[in-house]
Amino acid sequence: MSLAIKNGRIITASDDYVADIYVENETITSIGCDLEIPDGVETIDADGKLVFPGFIDPHVHIYLPFMGTYAKDDYESASKAALVGGTTTLIEMCCPSRADSPIESFELWKSKAEGLAAVDYTFHMGVTRYDDEVEAQLRELVKRGLSSFKIFLAYQGAFGIDDEELFKTLKLAKELGVIVTAHCENAIAVSQLQAELIAAGKTGPEHHEPSRPESIETSGVEHLMTFAELTGAHVYVVHTSCDGALRAAQAARYRGVNAWIETVIPYLVLDKTYAEKPNFEGAKYVMSPPIRDIRNQPILWDAIRNRLISTVATDHAPFDFGDQKTMGRDDFTKIPNGIPSVEDRINLFYTHGVAEGKIDLQTFVDAGSTQAAKLFGMYPKKGAIQVGSDADLVVYDPDYRGKISVKTQQMATDYSAFEGWEMKGRPSVVTVRGEIQARDGEFVGTIGRGEFIARQPNHF
Ligand code: URP
Ligand code: ZN
Ligand code: ZN
Repeated sequence: MSLAIKNGRIITASDDYVADIYVENETITSIGCDLEIPDGVETIDADGKLVFPGFIDPHVHIYLPFMGTYAKDDYESASKAALVGGTTTLIEMCCPSRADSPIESFELWKSKAEGLAAVDYTFHMGVTRYDDEVEAQLRELVKRGLSSFKIFLAYQGAFGIDDEELFKTLKLAKELGVIVTAHCENAIAVSQLQAELIAAGKTGPEHHEPSRPESIETSGVEHLMTFAELTGAHVYVVHTSCDGALRAAQAARYRGVNAWIETVIPYLVLDKTYAEKPNFEGAKYVMSPPIRDIRNQPILWDAIRNRLISTVATDHAPFDFGDQKTMGRDDFTKIPNGIPSVEDRINLFYTHGVAEGKIDLQTFVDAGSTQAAKLFGMYPKKGAIQVGSDADLVVYDPDYRGKISVKTQQMATDYSAFEGWEMKGRPSVVTVRGEIQARDGEFVGTIGRGEFIARQPNHF
């Protein structure tokens, strides 16, 4: 199967040039000006369009048993949503509960993707307990192609691990060349503040942010950095929401800790006033760490522009408003945490980043695709436009104007956190390994075509 993309403005993390791309058998086989395209080959005219490597979302939840319920998407709806929004690879958090076996959990999570995924996918392996059995299974899972772990310093009693487990997980990761992604909030401080607020009758979603203040996230990052320094492990702070947490991670980097930083699109465009909306509407905006005071937004954007923040993900964790978020109507601590955003990440990042002049096109590609591929062992198969790379390509129309709405979204949730927001730009064609999967906001691909990506440890 062959495909040609003619006359597009090719944008990578470092380049910007006009050329044609020719694809055979799922990979890019030539790039150049005025390529000879054999008769009969499907050809996309990309004149006036931008051509990006397929975007990678390195932090999503699809199958997620959490807070007494399950996240709403399956791989079919999540793939469709990702693809119409320009994301061609997902890295899902595999989050077993403490009692579960890691290998069985990996097999369960993978089974949810097989036959339904239309994007390519892999997993960060959640380490939610550490003992000899878990260690042996983690070693086996790395051999099976999982080269990143996920740990939670938050969610005590659910996914959270203690300090002995943290130390041992990082030691193992260092030995195996695995990078450890980490949710950094001090779990004990959160539970104390939650109890105080509820006891004082402060039960609404607007109290979620004060129950997990910036200082708690900052101290979580500092804690992780101490352990990373002691063990030499490579760590990746997920969903960094605020100045303090960012500074803590940067300070560690300056003293030589192997640390990388992710932020997620909700923190770049929303602020805590959304969680203060009346009539429980604020519950739509409850995630952890919480969306913050607006003063943090320019600080996060500056860090992206300076490439101190490596990746912009989503932390897509979709729960319905109608019958899931309402589980916390009388107690904000019971609102399932998460904001659906896998469909909107790239259009929001482009609209509020590139179109508003906050970042350039190369940084957009770097943070939206290339860094995730490099950090998580997929480069240059993914995250690049090079001869030999997978033909995951996004032909992007920067002149498109439209609005986000639950009425047109592919995500399975009953609301959009960005209802009515303007998009300045949208993918017109999205390919995964050379096959067109989305066109102009519609999924036109093949359910079940997505492949598991086996990754090698980085050994950095
Ligand atoms: O609110 C969030 N972030 N929900 C998903 C679970 C997590 O912490 O990543
Ligand atoms: Zn998290
Ligand atoms: Zn998450």
